[in-house]
Amino acid sequence: MPSRSAFDAKTLQRRYYVDQDVYEQETERIFFDRWLFVGRASQIADPGAYMLFEVESESIIVLRDHEGSIHAHHNVCRHRGTRLVTESTGTFPKSIQCGYHAWTYALNGELTGAPFMDEVESFCKANYPLLPVAVAEWEGCIFVNLSDDPKPFEEAFAPLIDKFNRWDLPRLRIAHRLVYDIAANWKLVFQNYSECYHCPALHPALNRLTPFRNAWNDLEEGPFLGGPMQMEIEGGSMTMTGQRCAAPLGGLEGEDLNRVQYYTIFPNLLLSLHPDYVLTHRIDRLATDRTRIVCDWLFDIDAMAAPDFDPQPAIEFWNMTNEQDWMVSKLSQQGITSRAYTPGPYAELESMIAAWDREYLQVLEGRD
Ligand code: FES
Ligand SMILES: [Fe+2]
Repeated sequence: MPSRSAFDAKTLQRRYYVDQDVYEQETERIFFDRWLFVGRASQIADPGAYMLFEVESESIIVLRDHEGSIHAHHNVCRHRGTRLVTESTGTFPKSIQCGYHAWTYALNGELTGAPFMDEVESFCKANYPLLPVAVAEWEGCIFVNLSDDPKPFEEAFAPLIDKFNRWDLPRLRIAHRLVYDIAANWKLVFQNYSECYHCPALHPALNRLTPFRNAWNDLEEGPFLGGPMQMEIEGGSMTMTGQRCAAPLGGLEGEDLNRVQYYTIFPNLLLSLHPDYVLTHRIDRLATDRTRIVCDWLFDIDAMAAPDFDPQPAIEFWNMTNEQDWMVSKLSQQGITSRAYTPGPYAELESMIAAWDREYLQVLEGRD
């Protein structure tokens, strides 16, 4: 059994950050196998609204139909394989039409029109629907799974399913989004998020609000890791002022009002729950040394409608902290790429990275 402690654990070998072979192995074992966070259901609130989600060679249309259901389809025409949609978001009037020979699909994927194909005796429209992708909605978040045989979402996410009910997350809407493109391997972003050992040196403002030793973990092994941090200011939040920008979310009370909660959700989501807002980082792996990070600030729909709503102190706080984290992640990538790099020892304060690495290696190579 692996030890729960970081004791004796070391950082990963260089190849995991630079090798194309590892990258391709990750594609198959992780990104084409696990449930991936796409975005918020509120981004496709209206009938016909869609967003594209892209992973390596795959492009997926995630849409809402006129009955209100969410579907995910491969963005591949069943005639000659042409990409159907190129805009990253939009609204389909009633159907999806291919721009090449005008084959037309209903929003549920059914092929409804195929001009002149009635001249082909063996052709039957029912045999050529858009290929579906497994999709799930949890707490207002949409996930897809590209596996041919996906593990049911409820099973895969069992440790988290009811864990965040108190925040009433489906009520939240995106108040602000920032997208970052950084020259670092995607795992460095997870590893950086998984410890606060770096907080005193790198994040003086954050460390004043939540001194680095104020943390503990309630998920310590497996694909979901993390836990709360106690804030110094009672009833405060992680903002430029240290005060909340909105009323507490959902049914939060008691100690929840004095804590921020940080979780890594393997393999592409960081979830940070504050008393008054939630931050999501979607981690898009683009190359061994390139990662895009889509960061959303989510607030309660009613709080956002208030005339004096001002999320700026929260946005500024995390944008500043993000930039500090991306800066060291880039420097880590540079140093790890050097021939002088050898794995270094983790501190006890980095036990969650050691746990994250164990899970990663287990998924990638089937070992502890
Ligand atoms: S490739 Fe789409 S209709 Fe021909
Ligand atoms: Fe950080």
